[in-house]
Amino acid sequence: MDKYLINGGNKLNGSVTISGSKNAALPIITATIIEPGIYTLYNMPQLSDTRTMAKLIKIIGGKAYFENNVMYIDTTECNSPIAPYDLVKTMRASFYVLGPFMSRFGKATVSLPGGCAWGPRPVDYHLTALEQMGADVSLDSGNIEVKGLLRGSDIKFKQSSVGATGNIIMASVKAHGETIIREYAKEPEIEDLICFLRNMDASIDLFGTRDLKIIGKKTLAGGGEHTIIPDRIEAATFMIAVAICGGEVTINKINPDHLVAITNKLIEVGIDISVHHDSIDIKSSGSINPVDIITEPYPGFPTDIQAQWMAMMAFSNGNSKIIENIYKDRFSHISELSRFGSRIELNDNIATTYGRENLRPAPVMSTDIRASAALVLAALGIKGGSSVSRIYHLDRGYERFEQKMTQLGADIKRSNI
Ligand code: UD1
Repeated sequence: MDKYLINGGNKLNGSVTISGSKNAALPIITATIIEPGIYTLYNMPQLSDTRTMAKLIKIIGGKAYFENNVMYIDTTECNSPIAPYDLVKTMRASFYVLGPFMSRFGKATVSLPGGCAWGPRPVDYHLTALEQMGADVSLDSGNIEVKGLLRGSDIKFKQSSVGATGNIIMASVKAHGETIIREYAKEPEIEDLICFLRNMDASIDLFGTRDLKIIGKKTLAGGGEHTIIPDRIEAATFMIAVAICGGEVTINKINPDHLVAITNKLIEVGIDISVHHDSIDIKSSGSINPVDIITEPYPGFPTDIQAQWMAMMAFSNGNSKIIENIYKDRFSHISELSRFGSRIELNDNIATTYGRENLRPAPVMSTDIRASAALVLAALGIKGGSSVSRIYHLDRGYERFEQKMTQLGADIKRSNI
């Protein structure tokens, strides 16, 4: 199992180019199943998650391969609406095939992520909405079986959900009649999916200011090209890295509009930021003011940056509060960050960090994609040798991470010993 060996304390300088967005790429790859055709997806990040999704396309009878950062997909021969446990267990986002399978085949068998019991679990919004659209949903030996012709419906999820919004959009574009999705998730990754589907001639429009109206069509225009939006989470991770380590870096090939919540907060932290058309210059002396955050649906502060923010607050000169409102128990990084000597207290979904005290290098272990990034950032900021193990988590979401960091002057090496 690979780990990072990090000799922290270097400043970061130069420029870094941000890859395509993982969370936009994954649903768009599954959306190519909806209508048979040949698709070319540009700015596709080469990650273990995007490779897993390509494998899924192949398992169901299609073709998918990378050439550098272009993914070519042919879904003409896809014939098997089954997403097996082996794939789904490694990546919850495989659940995104559900909507496309229903649109193309009128049936789907998708393994329940992690094989957990069906109840008020994190896929209930997807299933309840499909039932509302007329599908027959059942659970058989850890597999969710969905079948039936879908008809339009008026849908509102209990809370904002990125995955359920994406899945139900993909299920409605070929359903019979009109679907309204109330208070849909407005994350840029969902807007990118909508853009891709509109290019396929899907009828998806804003309905008022907060809702979406989708009019189902019997067939869409299969095939085409699309460029995946830049990864705002990767960009924010690099911005926080510079804030922690100090230095001067240009973050290239991004959409600054997607990063407003982060840049505003970093300015409060005391970081110099200049925003350009598709890049941001960031300059830090390494001195960090404590700043509270609350995670919220877009355009609020993203939960996918909460762990990295907490790592940065471990270097601050005071106390701060981090309130996690999306995944209320997403705090597995606290115990690992404390190995570096940082003091963080957790009460329900509120973490209090007590700033820079006795930070020291340490061996730590990743627990998920963003927690791994947080641990690497902390290790980069602390003078001396640390290691971060189980970086297969990080490989799911960050393309050429150590190469990009090395290019900026970090001392970080991959090791499998
Ligand atoms: C997506 C992102 C993930 C990000 C999250 C929130 C991808 C591949 N993943 O995850 O990186 O952290 O959005 O921005 O894009 N919920 C339910 N039942 C459901 C669905 C969701 O209770 O059926 C709850 C979840 O437990 C969570 C909240 O709704 O508390 C939001 O989750 P959701 O937006 O659906 O997250 P994902 O789409 O899984």
